[in-house]
Amino acid sequence: MLHTIKIKAAVFSMTLFMATAAYAGDSPADIKARIGKGDPVAGKDKSAMCQGCHGEKGMSDATTFPRLAGQFANYLQKQIHDFQKEARVDPTMSGMAATVTEHQDLLDITAYFASQQQMKGSGGNNEAGKQLYLEGNATSGVYGCVNCHGENGKGKSPDNALFPVIGGQHKDYLVKQLADFNKGDRKNDPAGMMGNIAKSMTTAEIEAVADYLSGL
Ligand code: HEC
Ligand code: HEC
Repeated sequence: MLHTIKIKAAVFSMTLFMATAAYAGDSPADIKARIGKGDPVAGKDKSAMCQGCHGEKGMSDATTFPRLAGQFANYLQKQIHDFQKEARVDPTMSGMAATVTEHQDLLDITAYFASQQQMKGSGGNNEAGKQLYLEGNATSGVYGCVNCHGENGKGKSPDNALFPVIGGQHKDYLVKQLADFNKGDRKNDPAGMMGNIAKSMTTAEIEAVADYLSGL
């Protein structure tokens, strides 16, 4: 009996330790945290139309349609609201966002995509991109992306939906978002924190970091 309790205590403290270590990504606790309040089972049916572009499990093939697999539900909800308010505009996606009028549907659809294994890419062994991701550029004042987007771009922590998953995302989509932030065409980021960074980046840096991230 005492023995069992000791083992349980050891497993518990190990779990605690793991929770404070770097965000690994796909443990049941991680998935539960990023799903939020919605019902992923109901969301599977409700997201049939979305899957047409974003992929059945949120792993889209077309490189201009972002992957949503394992993205934070709260981040996805914020983007849909932003498209609806026209705080973020896209000729294709704005109309799609307008179709999600019920709050519960939004919670369920985003829970479905969040419940998938986190997006994963291949290739992209870009050393310059990796260095920028980890260290930023002190000369131009670009802050290292890792400080907000976390190790391998998989997010800062399972319950922090402010900073989206960007590791394993399509390169073309990443380049477009960074260019949009750079030009001021996308400015729905809280406190302008992403725009400030993108505005200090060169085209070559955007290309390199997007290449690196798409392989994670
Ligand atoms: C016809 C194709 C198409 C369909 C259908 C579609 N989307 Fe999109 N979606 C896009 C495109 C294109 C973008 C990228 C917009 C941009 O470049 O800023 C996008 C972007 C998004 C984003 C932002 C992702 C991010 O990482 O910031 C979310 C969230 C999203 N879509 C959710 C949905 C949901 C939910 C549905 C179903 C109600 C849906 N989409 C249906 C094409 C589509
Ligand atoms: C100070 C924190 C911070 C730093 C540092 C940072 N970001 Fe971000 N980034 C954000 C936030 C917050 C958002 C979400 C904006 C929103 O809510 O729409 C974001 C969004 C993004 C997006 C859009 C993701 C999507 O799915 O549409 C990309 C791409 C991105 N960041 C890339 C980078 C890169 C590359 C770097 C390093 C050069 C970087 N970020 C550094 C805070 C940061």
